[in-house]
Amino acid sequence: MAIKHKEHFHGSDLEKIEKIYGIKKEEIISFSANVNPLGISDKLRSTLAERLDVITSYPDREYTSLRNVLAKYCGTIPENIIVGNGSTELISIVIEFRSPKKAMILSPSYSEYEREVKLVGGDIVYFPLNEKDDFKLRIDELNSALEDDIDMLIICNPNNPTSTCLKQDELRKILAKAAQNDILVMVDETYIEFTETPELFEAIPLTREFNNLFIIRGISKFFASPGLRLGYAITGNLDLINRINEKKNPWTINSLAEVAGELIFTDTDYINKTRALISGERKRICKVLDSMSSCGLKYYDPNANFILCRLDSDEITADTLFEACIKKKLMIRNCSTFKYLDEHYFRFCIMMPEDNDMLLNVIKENITKNTDLH
Ligand SMILES: Cc1ncc(COP(=O)(O)O)c(C=O)c1O
Repeated sequence: MAIKHKEHFHGSDLEKIEKIYGIKKEEIISFSANVNPLGISDKLRSTLAERLDVITSYPDREYTSLRNVLAKYCGTIPENIIVGNGSTELISIVIEFRSPKKAMILSPSYSEYEREVKLVGGDIVYFPLNEKDDFKLRIDELNSALEDDIDMLIICNPNNPTSTCLKQDELRKILAKAAQNDILVMVDETYIEFTETPELFEAIPLTREFNNLFIIRGISKFFASPGLRLGYAITGNLDLINRINEKKNPWTINSLAEVAGELIFTDTDYINKTRALISGERKRICKVLDSMSSCGLKYYDPNANFILCRLDSDEITADTLFEACIKKKLMIRNCSTFKYLDEHYFRFCIMMPEDNDMLLNVIKENITKNTDLH
């Protein structure tokens, strides 16, 4: 019998799943957390083990060496970089700092932005991404909506959960309009390294042109290290960085995360291996999903390491598919809690090929069972 629950599970809710479904969390394959399935590299594992004693001293308060490595990785200067306890700390800080009276959020998107804006008492204007456009943003419409009572615009690029991604020249148009109205634009690039051609999408070069741009990044997803809590932000607005640094608590990045950060951004073997795996699997999975379109499954062209799908049926919903998958210890994300999405939508991330095959088989079994009934 299906377990009825009112809860919807997030990628990090494995403990809850363990309790409700009686499945050990170690046995669950999380297609919901959007984390690189390669895990950490042997090089990182051994370096952290060897350097464990770093926890006996405080990290460098300025994180100079880490910011130097990051600057090289990002093609910018260390002065333009600020580090934080996961991208979450930086999202929170910049929103708190700006304290928007009215923030515009493209939607559906990651829910944390909304929470942070509400915490500082700001109003939110949601700019809808429409299914009929395959959730792609209409730049001109957005620009017309960027009126001067809006003080902050938040864009997730690639966007979670739609996996759509704006190109650099599209971002340039938005930033130019926002600059005219003194709107700070926060671009969350948590998933940017998973895209086929990051150089076409990333906003970093635009920090040389625009002072109203604040880019957020982290290591949780691409570098498979959500437990280390390391994020960073890039902006050309040195005044903003200085003011944030005055307010920010010292040492929020622990010494192990500092050691890890100094290593991973130069680990080209790991970076290339990840990009090849995700890119190859993304193409392969999309082909398999194409073959399911006659059974009422639609997906939206993915740019990141996850894919948003729509079930065109009333009998099988994201909830029933979640139940079918979790019984096989595969955890997908029911997307009905995202604004503008409903029980037809689910998302899954790219894992190792054999795990992806297992998931695709369960999806296929369930949607064809459903079409056989007709
Ligand atoms: C778009 C987006 N930004 C930020 C985060 C949080 O990342 P971090 O672990 O770096 O705080 C997530 C986590 O799911 C996310 O999806």
